[in-house]
Amino acid sequence: MADQFDDIVVAPDKRLKTECAPIEEITPEIRGLAKRMLDDMYATEGCGLAAPQVGELVQMVVIDVDYTERKRNPYVLINPEIVVADGEEREFPEGCLSFPGITVRVTRPSHVVVRARNLDGDLMQYEAKDNLMAVCLQHEIDHLHGVTMLDHLRPLKRAAKMHELEEALAAGARPGDTSVA
Ligand code: NI
Repeated sequence: MADQFDDIVVAPDKRLKTECAPIEEITPEIRGLAKRMLDDMYATEGCGLAAPQVGELVQMVVIDVDYTERKRNPYVLINPEIVVADGEEREFPEGCLSFPGITVRVTRPSHVVVRARNLDGDLMQYEAKDNLMAVCLQHEIDHLHGVTMLDHLRPLKRAAKMHELEEALAAGARPGDTSVA
C-alpha cells in the first residue's frame, strides 16, 4: 500500500490551482476515492481533505472535525455548494495537508450553510456557526475551486508564507505538520 503521506499533493502544484469538475454519478470509483481520502485524512491527522489534494480533480471533500481513535464521524460531501456565508468575520489559524509545516491566519464569515450530495446521492444541508466546522467547510470547498488558504492573504504576506513553506519542506515537514506560530 502506498504511503498515505506521499498520496497528498503538496504546494506549489498546479492541481491545487484548478477548478474541479462536478461529479455526475456516484460510481464504485467515486466510493473508492472517498474511502482513500478518509484513510489519508485520518493517517495524516487532518480534519478535512479535498479531492484535488490527492490529485483527483472532482468536487468531493471529506471532513471530520472531532474524531478520536474510537469514535469517527466522517462527512463526505459531493458537489458541495455554499448557499449562505454571513455572520461576523472571524480570524482563525488554519493548517492544510498540502502546506506542511505552516499555519495561516485566515479571516472568513462565521456562519455557513452548505448543500451537498452524500455517497447515497441524497441532497444534504449542513449548517455551522462559530466553530471549526464552519472554517473547515469553507477551506475545503475553496480547494474545489483552485483556492488555497494562502489566496486569502495579501501578496506580501502570501510570499512570506510561501517562503516559510519552502523552508519547512526543506527541513523535512510532512502533511499534517503545522507551525507553532
Ligand atoms: Ni487544505
